[in-house]
Amino acid sequence: MFIPAVLACLILTLMLSPRVVAAFPPPQKTKPHLPSSLLRSQLSSQLSSLDDPEVKSIILAEQRRQRCSLELIASENFASSAVLTVLGSCLTNKYSEGQPSARYYAGNVNIDALETLTKARALKLYDLSPEWSVNVQPYSGSPANFAVYTALLNPHDRIMGLDLPSGGHLTHGYYTAKKKVSATSVYFESLPYKVDEETGLIDYDEMEKLATLFRPKLLIAGGSAYPREWDYARMRAIANSVGAYLLVDMAHLSGLVASSVVDSPFEYADVVTTTTHKSLRGPRSGMIFSRKELSDDIDKAVFPGLQGGPHNNNIGALCVALKEADSPEFKTYAKQVISNAKALSESLMEKGMKLATGGTENHLMLWDVRPLGLSGSKVEKVLERCSITLNKNSLHGDTSAVNPGGVRIGVCALTSRGMGVEEMGRVAGWLVRGAEIAGKVQEKTGKKLADFKVGMEEEEFKTEIDGLRDEVEQFAEGFYMPGEELQTES
Ligand SMILES: Cc1ncc(COP(=O)(O)O)c(C=O)c1O
Repeated sequence: MFIPAVLACLILTLMLSPRVVAAFPPPQKTKPHLPSSLLRSQLSSQLSSLDDPEVKSIILAEQRRQRCSLELIASENFASSAVLTVLGSCLTNKYSEGQPSARYYAGNVNIDALETLTKARALKLYDLSPEWSVNVQPYSGSPANFAVYTALLNPHDRIMGLDLPSGGHLTHGYYTAKKKVSATSVYFESLPYKVDEETGLIDYDEMEKLATLFRPKLLIAGGSAYPREWDYARMRAIANSVGAYLLVDMAHLSGLVASSVVDSPFEYADVVTTTTHKSLRGPRSGMIFSRKELSDDIDKAVFPGLQGGPHNNNIGALCVALKEADSPEFKTYAKQVISNAKALSESLMEKGMKLATGGTENHLMLWDVRPLGLSGSKVEKVLERCSITLNKNSLHGDTSAVNPGGVRIGVCALTSRGMGVEEMGRVAGWLVRGAEIAGKVQEKTGKKLADFKVGMEEEEFKTEIDGLRDEVEQFAEGFYMPGEELQTES
C-alpha cells in the first residue's frame, strides 16, 4: 500500500470538522451507503418543498421510471445517497480554477482540502506508488480523454484505438467514410484496430501489424462494449515497439479494477483515464492517472487548456464514492457484478441465445440477435416498452452501423439494487420473451423500423407487451434502489 497517500487521507480526514464527517457515515454492513435519518428527512423535505411543479413532476416521473424498470445499460449505475447528497451541496457554488494551493480565486481553503483528499483517496484505491499522479478535475470521460490527447500529442499526430463498431468509444478517434464524427478524428489522425470478424476478440497480431505500419504516437486500450479482458502486457509491448504512449481508458471497468475482480492496467500504462459513474458508482465525472513525468502537461491541458473552474460538488461526491469503493462491501459488490454477468450470459445461452465471444469476463455482454432474424433496434424498442432498458450495439460482422445486430447488456445497476444470480435467470427469461414478441411483430410488419414501431402498438401485441411490462415493474419495484432514502412522494 502507498503509505504517503494513506497518511494524507488520515490527516485530511482529521482536518475535516466532526459535523462534516458525520454527514458521510461509513457504509453499513447490511444496507451500504445509507445516510443518517436526519439527513434523509432534510433532503426529502427539500425536494417535497421544491416550489417548481414542472421540474418536480419530471423528477418524480424519472424516480418512478428508475425504480420500476430493469436498468441494463452497461454504462449506468445507481449512486449512493451520500454521493447524491454531496452533489447537491454548497460545493457547487465555489470557483477554484487551478490546483490545490495554487488557485486563481480566493476563498479556497476548504476546496483545497477536498481536492487533496480526493486525489489521495484515488491513488490509495488503486494502490499506486509515488510514480503516479492523478487529476480529478475532468468534467467527465470525454473531456478527460481529450485532455490526454492535448497534453501528449501535437495536432495531426497519429492515434490508434478500438474501432467504435468493434466496441471502442467515440473519443478514441471514430470517423466514417463520410464524416469525422469525433473531434478526436478532426484534430488527430486515427487508424482503428478491430475485433476478429469470427470470434469477436481483439486481434492483437493484426494490431501489431497495423501499429508497425501506422506508427501511432498513442495506442489506446479500453472500450465501451468489449466483454473480455484486455491484454495490457501485449499492448505495452506493441506501444514500445513503435515508441508510442499507452493510454488505458478504463471507464467501464474502474470499479472492477479497484476491487481486483478484473485485471489492472496500471503496471503497463503511461496514462489511465476513467469516468466515475459506471462500475465505480460515483457521480458523473472523470479522472486522469498519469506517470509523474507526464502529470504537469496533463494538469495544464485540463486547466487552462480545456476547462475552467472544476465542478467541486462532483469532486466532493467523487471523494465520497472513492471511500465507498475502498470498502469490503464494495468488493463484495464487484464480485457479485462478475457472478451476475456470468449467470445472465449463461442463462441466455442456455435458452439458445448467441453472445459475442461466447460469454463475458466483466460486467457486460453483447447479445447477437441476428440469428433470430432481428436487429438490435427492434429488441431495444420492445424491451423499452416492457420497462427493460438496454441499448442496441454494433457487432463484429455487422454491415450497417445504423442498424446494428446486437444489444449490449450490463449488470452493474441491477447488482447495486441487490439482485443476485437467481434474479439473473428471471431477467434472461424476460429478455428472451421480449425478443420473441419482437419476432412476432416483425413477422406482421416487415423489417422497416418505422412500420415495426407502429405495429408494436397494435392490440394483439400491445396486450402481450403490457403484460410483460406489468410483471417486470412489479418485480423491479420490490428491490432496494440506492438513493431512495432521499426520495419524496411518488
Ligand atoms: C470507454 C469510455 N470512455 C469514455 C467515455 C465517455 O464518458 P462521458 O460520457 O462521461 O464523457 C465512455 C462513455 O460511455 C466510455 O465508455
